[in-house]
Amino acid sequence: MKIQHPFPLCYSLFLLLLATTSLISPSLGDLGKCNPSDYKALMNIKKSLSPPEFSYELTSWVQNTDCCDWHGISCDGKTNRVQELGIFAADISGQISSSVGDLPHLVSLTFRNIKNLTGSIPQSITKLKHLIRLDLPYLGLSGPVPDFLNQLTALNFLDLSYNQFSGSIPPNLSELKNLTTIYLDGNKLTGSIPESFGRFTGTVPELYLSRNKLTGPIPKSLGALGYRAINLSRNKLTGDASILFNQNHSLTTYIDLSRNQFEFDLTNVKFPKDLNWLDISRNKIFGGIPEEIKDLDHLYMFKVDYNRLCGKIPTGGNMERFKSTSFFHNKCLCGSPLMSCKRK
Ligand SMILES: *[C@@H]1O[C@H](CO)[C@@H](O)[C@H](O)[C@H]1NC(C)=O
Ligand SMILES: *[C@@H]1O[C@H](CO)[C@@H](O)[C@H](O)[C@H]1NC(C)=O
Ligand SMILES: *[C@@H]1O[C@H](CO)[C@@H](O)[C@H](O)[C@H]1NC(C)=O
Ligand SMILES: *[C@@H]1O[C@H](CO)[C@@H](O)[C@H](O)[C@H]1NC(C)=O
Ligand SMILES: *[C@@H]1O[C@H](CO)[C@@H](O)[C@H](O)[C@H]1NC(C)=O
Repeated sequence: MKIQHPFPLCYSLFLLLLATTSLISPSLGDLGKCNPSDYKALMNIKKSLSPPEFSYELTSWVQNTDCCDWHGISCDGKTNRVQELGIFAADISGQISSSVGDLPHLVSLTFRNIKNLTGSIPQSITKLKHLIRLDLPYLGLSGPVPDFLNQLTALNFLDLSYNQFSGSIPPNLSELKNLTTIYLDGNKLTGSIPESFGRFTGTVPELYLSRNKLTGPIPKSLGALGYRAINLSRNKLTGDASILFNQNHSLTTYIDLSRNQFEFDLTNVKFPKDLNWLDISRNKIFGGIPEEIKDLDHLYMFKVDYNRLCGKIPTGGNMERFKSTSFFHNKCLCGSPLMSCKRK
């Protein structure tokens, strides 16, 4: 009986051997679910970073393994194409490889907190038509903020904060219809805020431009838009910023204009009703504090210190919330929580 099946047994063993060798064949590799073209792009990205062998973030990026299992990579459940690439706080140096443009299904790209990641944003990034999130803060990127970013038509979230970007803000960015948030704070940007930033055709994005070297007045066009949040703190902006305050902009909750050189009369300014945060400290603002400020129920942060304001601080309403430090170092503000007003 045993001698009756030697050939089929041999044959199946042979097949098994064949199957096993093809799996471990070094030329083919076992990329698992990973799309070979995505694999190639990621390997090029790895090559542009050094020293990968010491970086926890890249230790799983091993040759001939499934890139969908690598640290910082996530693939689409159906197509298995790379959708997200994120490297955080890695102890590496290098540049952003132009091969990021060869990950055509990328939705989210993050390099964050890698001080030695230098150079510029590669132009190939404009090939990423599905990119919704471009998250590149706390790197060492330099040169101008590229104006080709306007070609990332799906972009929703742009964070280039705390790099070394210089030059002016590309007016082109206002063409991005789906943009809801722009972080450009903590760079070396100069020039003025583009006039086009008052003409966002889609959603009006939250705008974070603090800690730059921006100059000039706020363009009039910005007054027409209801920015939800705007932070212009620590620049060298001048002129009348009162155009930003529109009582009809119910969405506006947060305005920080502190540490600039704005110069305007606050007396008759009407504030958005839902304002949470208003910091206009350290400017050259004059006039008095409008009475209506006490009726802004949601206001929990209010600072006007180091300006040239005068007159009696409103009382009642929400005014109890604010300490003397919110008001001190003005020309002649008086009344609680500062010294009482002297009768003439
Ligand atoms: C980052 O750059 C600095 C200055 O060139 C260097 O001293 C440091 O070793 C670099 N760190 C890494 C992880 O490459
Ligand atoms: C807008 O962006 C394109 C590239 O996408 C550039 O060629 C063009 O010069 C930019 N236009 C302005 C007015 O900056
Ligand atoms: C912008 O967002 C809308 C709504 O989420 C979406 O339908 C549209 O496809 C997006 N535009 C682009 C160019 O991705
Ligand atoms: C606005 O920007 C300044 C400067 O970067 C920062 O100190 C402040 O906390 C910001 N405001 C908020 C609410 O994040
Ligand atoms: C706010 O709306 C009221 C009523 O629609 C209008 O009369 C007023 O001019 C508007 N104010 C501003 C600053 O747009």
